Amino acid sequence: MAEMNPIIEQLKEVPLFESLGDAELEALSQVVKLKSFPKNTILFSEGDESDSFYVICDGRVNVGINDEDGKEIILSRLGPNEYFGEMALMDGEPRSAFVMTKDACKMMIISKTDFKKILSSKFDVMLSLLKELQRRLREANKKIESLALMDVYGRVARLLTQLAGGSDPGIQIKDKLTHQEIASMVGASREMVSRVIKDLTNDGYISIRRKRITIHKNLPYNW
Ligand code: CMP
Repeated sequence: MAEMNPIIEQLKEVPLFESLGDAELEALSQVVKLKSFPKNTILFSEGDESDSFYVICDGRVNVGINDEDGKEIILSRLGPNEYFGEMALMDGEPRSAFVMTKDACKMMIISKTDFKKILSSKFDVMLSLLKELQRRLREANKKIESLALMDVYGRVARLLTQLAGGSDPGIQIKDKLTHQEIASMVGASREMVSRVIKDLTNDGYISIRRKRITIHKNLPYNW
């Protein structure tokens, strides 16, 4: 039996590359660089010049932006087999957001030149990128809706329901979350989020054990 190439095995797990055949995966594996990063490493900042595309093998990252006072808004959290860094490579603009590791991470890094080669030769990869872009835009629209129309109770309720993947009684959020992280995800102060979490706990909507939140009854978005 032919020896397995670990980079090819990893590439096969990535939905973006599911349309690539064996020869194409083999060629891609030759230009991919594997790199590990410790927890809390800033991979790049908003506004940086760019030359790389990243696919996550292990660990999670936060994608976010800072305002002038350093207040952080987390736009998204990405995990294994998801990717980032395609926007600046495609539109030639600086990085649209910062990306920071949330865990120790292993990444596959592809240079701008190699990334562009794949896009120009594989229509299905381009199509997959477009679909993901649309999914992220829909998600961003929901975020705009919640920032513009919901109070902090509603925003926290929406976030918790989204992270849990529903609000069936007993459903648990896998990620450990601090109040500061929740605040950065819903665009509110930590103090306000702490008050909302306390109220939700006291009213029996949620319970928290070791920073893991369990939802006990349907969380309404309008209070
Ligand atoms: P780029 O602009 O090159 O660098 C930051 C990356 O974060 C960006 O490419 C996308 O891959 C990713 N990104 C930016 N905004 C969002 C968002 N709203 N949701 C998910 N990912 C995003």
